[in-house]
Amino acid sequence: MDRHRRLTLLRATDRAAAVILVNRRIHVTVTLDRLTPAELLTLSGELNDEYGRFREAGFALDLTRGKPSRSQLALSDTLDTGDAAEGGFIAADGSDTRNYGGLDGLPEARELGATLLGVRPDEIMAGGNSSLTLMYLYLLNAWLYGPAGPGSAWRDGGTTKFLCPVPGYDRHFAILEDLGIEMLNVRMTADGPDMDQVESLVREDPTVKGLWCVPKYSNPGGETYSDATVQRLGRLGTIAGPHFRIMWDNAYAVHDLDDTPPQLDNIMDACRAQGTDDSVMLFASTSKVTRAGAGIAFTAGSPVNLTAFRARLQTLTIGPDKVNQLRHVRFLRDLDGVREHMQQHAAILRPKFDLVQRRLSEALDGKGMGHWSAPRGGYFVSFDSLPGLARRIINLAEDAGVKLTPAGATFPYRRDPDDSNIRLAPTFPDLADLDQAMRVFTVCVQLASVTQRLAD
Ligand SMILES: Cc1ncc(COP(=O)(O)O)c(C=O)c1O
Repeated sequence: MDRHRRLTLLRATDRAAAVILVNRRIHVTVTLDRLTPAELLTLSGELNDEYGRFREAGFALDLTRGKPSRSQLALSDTLDTGDAAEGGFIAADGSDTRNYGGLDGLPEARELGATLLGVRPDEIMAGGNSSLTLMYLYLLNAWLYGPAGPGSAWRDGGTTKFLCPVPGYDRHFAILEDLGIEMLNVRMTADGPDMDQVESLVREDPTVKGLWCVPKYSNPGGETYSDATVQRLGRLGTIAGPHFRIMWDNAYAVHDLDDTPPQLDNIMDACRAQGTDDSVMLFASTSKVTRAGAGIAFTAGSPVNLTAFRARLQTLTIGPDKVNQLRHVRFLRDLDGVREHMQQHAAILRPKFDLVQRRLSEALDGKGMGHWSAPRGGYFVSFDSLPGLARRIINLAEDAGVKLTPAGATFPYRRDPDDSNIRLAPTFPDLADLDQAMRVFTVCVQLASVTQRLAD
């Protein structure tokens, strides 16, 4: 059976299934179910042949890296050569950025961060090169010394637990694992974390001390939290145990792919309205705006939070790299400047995300072999295979020269209870490599699905 006939066969069964079921996930499952054993065997043979040809081709492709491509990085090359570099070293307040000092960061860098995160300039610190470092330090500080200063250390209360919307960002989970903080999975919905589940866990258990949030274009699912979710998060501090903190990692605040991006409600305002300002810490960086791991990281919070955190930071450092902060502010200017710059990123990224959607749809639409996100920004596409197949698909792809993020990586303790989630990172490879990698990936998905069905 050639590829065209195979697709025709599946489309015919799609039509039959579509008549009886509208829910996409069930609809496509029925479709796979409707293939006779003989049809499945034929399909399996075809897919094995195609897979064999990929293996012989000796590809070396990589879909694991959620990092900017070279052309994206080149958008910021004038950081070193243009006005940003030639404007001298003296900041607006007259301070010499080459010298020590200024723990909170340059006022102009803080102002930029404040507009990015939607807080007041006095609520923000501009730090070094990595928001992940700030998040780690913040949690270490909260656990060891206390998020609100003396008497508030989480470790003094014994067991410390944290809520983790899943699938989520592996490095968030790694921090908690490192600190021995117990992680509890929370379902992710199209509107953000399942707030019924969050509220009941927080209400019932005062040892739950926090919640991870990537509120815009969540890693890896691409969800942006709804206004209702943000408002309910603002109220969490009224039902949680003492010293509860939402870790608001707005890493993709301005990383839109289209011109009418979803709007994220302001978490600090939501908290302020409930008198829970202390229950949130915000983070962001310019890692995927200018240079990955060589931009400016920001953290924001209430005076109580910043005072306690500052006490730790001033033991750690005399101050951040203000030279880098100054040239970044000159380069990006303000929020409008950031948005203009991000449109250039979007122009590079859109064709890649479109290609991923196209290849997935062409190969898998209506076949009952998985479903996937269609993000409007951020860095990832989240793919869910049939239960029990993620590891198998990833191994198949690796044997055919395509590296995928390890199975389970998007869950605490690397345990995906359904063994189904796979994070695809389309930003780094060029279009030709991405295209080839997606062709291999979709054949691996089909092969694993058909093999599983045959074994049932
Ligand atoms: C959700 C999220 N937060 C933080 C980071 C890392 O940020 P930084 O480079 O500022 O440490 C990433 C990088 O992929 C990310 O996806």
